[in-house]
Amino acid sequence: MQSKFIETLGYADVAQEKQITPWEVQGELTDTDYQKVAREFGAKIIDPELTEMIRSAAGEVHPYITNGTFFAHRDLDMLLSDYRSGKRFYLYTGRGPSGKMHLGHLIPFIFTKWLQDRFGADLLIQITDDEKFLFRDLEMEDIRKYTEENILDILSLGFRPENTHIIVDSEQAGILYNQAIRVARHINVSLARDVFGFSDSDNVGKFFFTSMQAVPAFLIPALTGRDERCLIPYAIDQDPHFLVARDVLPKIGYRKPSSIISKFMPALKGSGKMSSSDPNSGIYLDDDPKTVRKKMMKYAFSGGRATAEEQRKFGAVPEIDFAYNIYKLLEPDQGKVRKVYEEYRRGALLSGEMKQIATDKINEFLEELRARREEVRSEVDAYRFSIDKVMR
Ligand code: TRP
Repeated sequence: MQSKFIETLGYADVAQEKQITPWEVQGELTDTDYQKVAREFGAKIIDPELTEMIRSAAGEVHPYITNGTFFAHRDLDMLLSDYRSGKRFYLYTGRGPSGKMHLGHLIPFIFTKWLQDRFGADLLIQITDDEKFLFRDLEMEDIRKYTEENILDILSLGFRPENTHIIVDSEQAGILYNQAIRVARHINVSLARDVFGFSDSDNVGKFFFTSMQAVPAFLIPALTGRDERCLIPYAIDQDPHFLVARDVLPKIGYRKPSSIISKFMPALKGSGKMSSSDPNSGIYLDDDPKTVRKKMMKYAFSGGRATAEEQRKFGAVPEIDFAYNIYKLLEPDQGKVRKVYEEYRRGALLSGEMKQIATDKINEFLEELRARREEVRSEVDAYRFSIDKVMR
């Protein structure tokens, strides 16, 4: 049976082979597809009015909002107006540790860190090792290794230990399980089937798992009694989980979580998903400068013209160009980004030059990350979730 989510995307025919679900993503959606998903599922597009609301609450707007990377939301307006009247909220996001992390994986975390800094909010980061065990052909031993590595990658962005709480599902099983069963009682098999596209041959753990992913969305109120709203930044493939959570949480006495939703990140080769079986499908955080350069020059999908002459004459389509898109996500100076866009579009910059600019930016970013990764290695314990830590 097909997931409703997939049908809405208009991917019904390719869906059989290449499902677009929370566990498998093909990053080739157009803006129209994104709008369609948002509309169908009742998420709202972030409009100029909400953007101004964010600006006034945060003191500034992150470029990921103005450039459309985070493009939709649920009840963010409500959360912000509560915030304006003095009510706190907390943040929740996560990572499934199924392999090494690439640049695209970090984008939601970069944005989440901005939210944490601007709002001084507590942040729960769920590491779903149980999910990867149930959904992927991986052994716990490997998943554990990725868990440790991925945590270092995430923390190297500079989260603060005082209000950042990393929850590894298998390590906090006692706490999470007791909350997850409260959710699971309200999810029947037919709903899980409809929303996620499961069939009778899927293992029973998969049907249960979404209950685990719902828990951090009410864990702070559940453990502390504090009536704080929860804001979840995520890429749109995770939306089915939070649709279910929004359905169930009010039934067990909690508020629906709010969300801020991003598009998928651009793929190096322009289409297809970044996969660990093809090391050239993405730029990994441990790629050294030479490897980055090689991947960029050889594989990065270009929106430029076939020849330098044509490029000078007609200009590029930066929107579909990997180098431009990743540069746009890593360069904080929006003035610079606009200038590069302009020049590339009108043909003053050649495709190779665009790749060069992006390569330098990526290498600079990765180098800083790796330096901080080593610093943070001895401090990981300070970030681990504990009841005592969230109580204070
Ligand atoms: N299921 C997500 C993944 O596979 C991990 C995750 C758990 C998550 N909780 C989340 C992602 C909340 C975003 C927001 O990567």
